[in-house]
Amino acid sequence: MPLVTSTEMFKKAYDGGWAVGAFNVNNMEIIQGITEAAQELNSPLILQVSSGARKYAKHVYLMKLVEAAVEDTGLPICLHLDHGDSFELCKSCVDGGFTSVMIDGSHLSFEENIELTRRVVEYAHERGAVVEGELGRLAGIEDKVNVSAEDASYTRPEEVEEFVSRTGVDSLAIAIGTSHGAYKFKPGQKPQLRFDILEEVAKRLPGFPIVLHGASSVIPEFVKMINENGGDMPDAIGIPEEMLRKAASMAVCKINIDSDLRLAMTGTIRKYFNDNPSHFDPRQYLKPARAAIKEMVARKISTVLGSNDKI
Ligand code: G3H
Ligand code: 13P
Ligand code: ZN
Repeated sequence: MPLVTSTEMFKKAYDGGWAVGAFNVNNMEIIQGITEAAQELNSPLILQVSSGARKYAKHVYLMKLVEAAVEDTGLPICLHLDHGDSFELCKSCVDGGFTSVMIDGSHLSFEENIELTRRVVEYAHERGAVVEGELGRLAGIEDKVNVSAEDASYTRPEEVEEFVSRTGVDSLAIAIGTSHGAYKFKPGQKPQLRFDILEEVAKRLPGFPIVLHGASSVIPEFVKMINENGGDMPDAIGIPEEMLRKAASMAVCKINIDSDLRLAMTGTIRKYFNDNPSHFDPRQYLKPARAAIKEMVARKISTVLGSNDKI
């Protein structure tokens, strides 16, 4: 099976009240951990690549690794550019075989965002790829851009119909209080999301797939593992799983997860070195890291996303 777009998965997810996991990938072990979990649970998948990941590993390596995963597992996998920041980057990913791209014009004015997104949609659609746009601005760190809480802004539901109809986007990322990275809420702060905004957006765009970025739960077990093995992470609070389940049961069809993968991998490797200080064969510490990713993703698929047995 070749790489697929997210069109079919989103249709099923919307109608079934579940969501597809969109996991960020940078290397072979991360790709294998995620795809092995999805294969065992018969779950569709979106693997996404940020511009930073593409610079780190090179387009061709990630492309071939994901193609290998498709061949190895037989899964329907959509390969997506995460947070594309220019027409040229989106074009290069579409030309290079990605089946989906995000053009993130959320920092631009409404009109500029529409113009840039519309151009990307036109290019991608002519070549069979789909496009995710964004309205509203999440706080947190993505690539080298750090958006402070003051500069973040919720999506304005009154803008979504015009944005979708004038751009032709296939899905829309919205800002309802999630943020990128491991520090989403301050210690002592009660996590809260603006489900009223999601509801209003869904009412205005019936049947249209909504995307939730910054959706890691910042799993405490891995933060603890990092800190018990020489790390020094401040208290980190993520998005509670029940909120993600609620979003998935509504119009959210794509849930983006990166930080939880990083924490699982780093926690496991730190523990490995603490337990085995004399080891230096990368396979020895990458093997348990890959297994931890697999286990964590399997749990997300079956208990948070609900995408198991949906192929
Ligand atoms: O939203 C951003 C993702 O977590 C990707 O992060 O740009 O550091 O690869 P990155
Ligand atoms: P997290 O940092 O919460 O994992 O968000 C990832 C993301 O939104 C990628 O686009
Ligand atoms: Zn994101």
